[in-house]
Amino acid sequence: MSGEMSRALVLEQFGRLPRLVERPVPEASPGQTLVRMLASQVAHLDLNVVDGKFGILPDLPAVPGTNGCGVVLTSDTHPEGALVRVNGKGLGLRLDGCWTEHAVVPDAAVIAVPEGTDPALACRFFTPASTAWAAVHSVAAVRADERVLVTGAAGAVGSLTVQVAARAGAEVIGVVGRASKLDHVPAAAKAVLATEMSLETVGGQVDAVVDTVGGPVLRDALGLVRPRGRVALVGYTAGRDFSVDLADFLLADVSLLPVNLMTRGKEVAADAERLLTELAAGVLSLPIERYGPERLTEAVERLRTGAAIGRVVLELA
Ligand SMILES: NC(=O)c1ccc[n+]([C@@H]2O[C@H](COP(=O)([O-])OP(=O)(O)OC[C@H]3O[C@@H](n4cnc5c(N)ncnc54)[C@H](OP(=O)(O)O)[C@@H]3O)[C@@H](O)[C@H]2O)c1
Repeated sequence: MSGEMSRALVLEQFGRLPRLVERPVPEASPGQTLVRMLASQVAHLDLNVVDGKFGILPDLPAVPGTNGCGVVLTSDTHPEGALVRVNGKGLGLRLDGCWTEHAVVPDAAVIAVPEGTDPALACRFFTPASTAWAAVHSVAAVRADERVLVTGAAGAVGSLTVQVAARAGAEVIGVVGRASKLDHVPAAAKAVLATEMSLETVGGQVDAVVDTVGGPVLRDALGLVRPRGRVALVGYTAGRDFSVDLADFLLADVSLLPVNLMTRGKEVAADAERLLTELAAGVLSLPIERYGPERLTEAVERLRTGAAIGRVVLELA
């Protein structure tokens, strides 16, 4: 690879977006795999790193990007030419990540992907799939014939949660924050606008909520759950806090339960992998917005403002 050039998005200062630069193709050392990246996610976690607001941060300059999909160019461990996804082991956190055409990654961060899989789907499915599965099955413990309300239902985690809950036999209500997203709630759910969320619009009390939004949406959703019902909290983009009247909370008798993929990831990994097969076959859907690396600003804006429909991915081919 010596002499070949490669484009990379390089973060030079926390709080400013990375700059697209040309640099020599990096070389892999023993224990590392060189991947020609084809697609990489832009996710809230990546933006937290760019903003310098995450517990694990790289020394700068650094390449962000915690998840990617590409083709193995050189490796002692993985077959050359294989389609793989890469994530974990500090990638995009302590180590240079995937917002680049060529990434050197630890061998242990490389996972084979079925040939022919859309790289954008391959790099984006795992977190929403495992989170949706953990929220519905492990944490909210949804049973057939229960009524489940999902917030952020046009988002990546939310839309998959709707589909996983519906397939568990639940009746699902999908809540979105803006009217433009009503049509993007998966057909398995009845779509409701957050500002119009009430016992009337939702059709009576629900047994469980999976909340991917937080803040005032979570507060309002809590009031719709039956006594002994469960609320699984996944995310808090709309607000990190809200106040609870403890007397009302005791009276309502609703459990608020965290979904933490860092502690639950391994136990749902096989289920998430199975969902990739169904996503690739079109049995399940995960909307993806695609951007070239030169359109990073636009991609980030769509994610930061909550306007994005589903996943935001940089295409690097
Ligand atoms: N607990 C875990 O282990 C875990 C794992 C994965 C993800 N997460 C978190 O779960 C959340 C959802 O993830 P995701 O990938 O589904 O994200 P996403 O696709 O961006 O969806 C988040 C949804 O939040 C809503 N939202 C409301 N206010 C927003 C704002 N100011 N900015 C952005 N979005 C806003 C939007 O829906 P409306 O427009 O309908 O309101 C948006 O669709 C994120 O906070 C993520 O960090 C947590």
